[in-house]
Amino acid sequence: MKKILLVGGSGYVGTVITSHLLKRGYAVNVLDNFVYGNQFSAELFLGESNYKFYKGDLGKDSDLENASEGVTDVVLLGGLVGDPITKTYPNESKLINTDGVTNCINYFSKKQLDKFILISTCSNYGLIKDNQVADENFELNPLSLYAKAKVAAESTLISKKGIASFTGVVLRFATAFGLSPRMRFDLSVSEFTRDLFFGETLKVFDEHTWRPYCHVRDFARLIEMVLNADKDRVNFEIFNAGGDKNNCTKKMIVDEILNNIPEAKVEYGANGTDPRNYKVSFEKVKNRLGFVPQYSVQDGIVELVLAMKNGFYKDALENKNKYGNYVINYKSEN
Ligand SMILES: NC(=O)c1ccc[n+]([C@@H]2O[C@H](COP(=O)([O-])OP(=O)(O)OC[C@H]3O[C@@H](n4cnc5c(N)ncnc54)[C@H](O)[C@@H]3O)[C@@H](O)[C@H]2O)c1
Repeated sequence: MKKILLVGGSGYVGTVITSHLLKRGYAVNVLDNFVYGNQFSAELFLGESNYKFYKGDLGKDSDLENASEGVTDVVLLGGLVGDPITKTYPNESKLINTDGVTNCINYFSKKQLDKFILISTCSNYGLIKDNQVADENFELNPLSLYAKAKVAAESTLISKKGIASFTGVVLRFATAFGLSPRMRFDLSVSEFTRDLFFGETLKVFDEHTWRPYCHVRDFARLIEMVLNADKDRVNFEIFNAGGDKNNCTKKMIVDEILNNIPEAKVEYGANGTDPRNYKVSFEKVKNRLGFVPQYSVQDGIVELVLAMKNGFYKDALENKNKYGNYVINYKSEN
């Protein structure tokens, strides 16, 4: 039986991957330092026979060693995720996303493993003009500390080809949506839906900018596909992770929400603070691995509206910090 270590596995995406892998019969170890005080997200797995939690830092070898006994594969998800949080905490961002992530890759490159999957981001494409579509060879244009660290991490991993025992794989995730035990409302689809559901007037900037999106449960399925893929199909390859049908403009997302909440109020404006605009090609992940997302953005909106109608996330506006990457509690122990 494969035993998968999810580094940063108690976050928004990691908890959904944990749940998926446990259901599919894998053993799962999670290493996480709860940088957002997000212990609650791991509670539901405690006591599961194939689940082990290790509190620790991805930048610290002794923590990596503790968490990785008997592990066959590693998925690296951890870090400070998103442009805003890395802007607020540039020093911690360097310690975690640059030094820590490099340390984690170096550490495992000397160990015996089957696969090492680095979770990167389509944000690496930054700003693409004239509605060109970015495949994996498209020039990278990282605009934030967050994306710059991801581009560097990709290079570090790819440089291990021929050196490390493992099969390295980079997945450039689209922006996530969908329900998770660690819900994040600081991501466009969920943020817009929450605000409009609770009667806020939503101000949307640069509504014609494009981004790709993907449901967290589709990401979990993709991780399992990569774990089981033949080595020669994925060996030190980079994949955009998502599906062509989920390339959307902000306006397309808002229109879908308005289909569900017709009375909601939206205002549009120009020149927002986030200039990112990228349409991404997901041909490679489809052709090589047969991955096509099951969920559309529309499905994610319907699912979230239904959850809120049933009384979930009532405190999502007042208790903002619980539901997003805003305030960290981090002390490097190195
Ligand atoms: N959510 C998205 O839209 C999205 C899009 C593209 C890529 N990604 C990538 O997917 C991965 C998961 O994102 P997410 O949305 O689940 O983020 P998240 O912030 O919810 O989860 C990150 C987790 O990493 C943990 N962590 C932070 N610093 C750590 C450290 N030093 N040691 C150990 N654990 C640490 C946090 O406590 C948290 O549980 C990230 O690599 C992110 O860059 C996410």
